[in-house]
Amino acid sequence: MDYQGILNIIEKQLKITPITGKVADYIPPLAKVNPTHLAMYLKCTSGDEFYFGDYQEKFSIQSISKVYTLALAKEIIGDQLWKRVGVEPSGNPFNSLTQLESEKGIPRNPFINAGSIVVADGLLSVLENPKKDLLNFVRKIASDNEIYYDEKVAASEKKHGYRNVALINYMKSLNNIENHPEDVLDFYYDQCSLSMNCQQLAKSFMLFANEGKRLGTNERVFNSQSIKRINAIMQTCGFYDEAGEFSYRVGLPGKSGVGGGIVALHPKHYTVAVWSPPLNKKGNSELGMKALEELTSLTGLSIF
Ligand code: DON
Repeated sequence: MDYQGILNIIEKQLKITPITGKVADYIPPLAKVNPTHLAMYLKCTSGDEFYFGDYQEKFSIQSISKVYTLALAKEIIGDQLWKRVGVEPSGNPFNSLTQLESEKGIPRNPFINAGSIVVADGLLSVLENPKKDLLNFVRKIASDNEIYYDEKVAASEKKHGYRNVALINYMKSLNNIENHPEDVLDFYYDQCSLSMNCQQLAKSFMLFANEGKRLGTNERVFNSQSIKRINAIMQTCGFYDEAGEFSYRVGLPGKSGVGGGIVALHPKHYTVAVWSPPLNKKGNSELGMKALEELTSLTGLSIF
């Protein structure tokens, strides 16, 4: 497969596509990001890599981090986690409050804000040094130590995160939060503030494409059942109330963030990360979705 030729076609198409979306502005530092950034990086399980644009420029990964915390929580807490968070698509915006009331404070899935806050709470209860341990975990699965939190983004989100305060307090009142809400949100904002580039993101997701094993050495990091489950949740819940649209147009499991990044993977074939900051109305990168739709159309390969 001529992946580089296909990426070149995608780059040309994206450059002439009119953008109607807007850069996220509810977290002030994100509003300052240049909307014209464009990057795509694809890594095959063979080890080959293909890319264009600003693929080495770091950005705020935001909700993409929800996959890392779920993977870590699944390893440490195991299936007990599912008593506190479900695995059903929400069909609602990522920061929605409505379902929590009728569903007794149990979030629909770990990829909406409420669900990821429950996961963060679970990790806070079991990790000795949550902030450091999470960073080490992400560095380990990405095989890259040049990954850091962006303290400014975390502090700014803390200052403006009224929705998340509402979500966590509501869940606390229904006994689904164990720790102090402020401590949980501090940890949640740290995870969201992780700053990574497309290359690091695609590399960190390779375990999910490679049956839980490291490329090259075949060292097993996650068991295959965990990989099956996390990929399934990405497929059904990775794009909030646009999860069906993403499945329909792209046909791969993936996860987006309001920083404009999306990571997707084709099990046993490749991982791919795209970055374009303007978001559509559902909070997903407008050009990122188009890039991935073109990728699976031009290669003729998706999981379906
Ligand atoms: O909690 C928030 O609202 C952000 N830190 C993360 C939101 C996000 O990335 C949703 N993704 N599309």
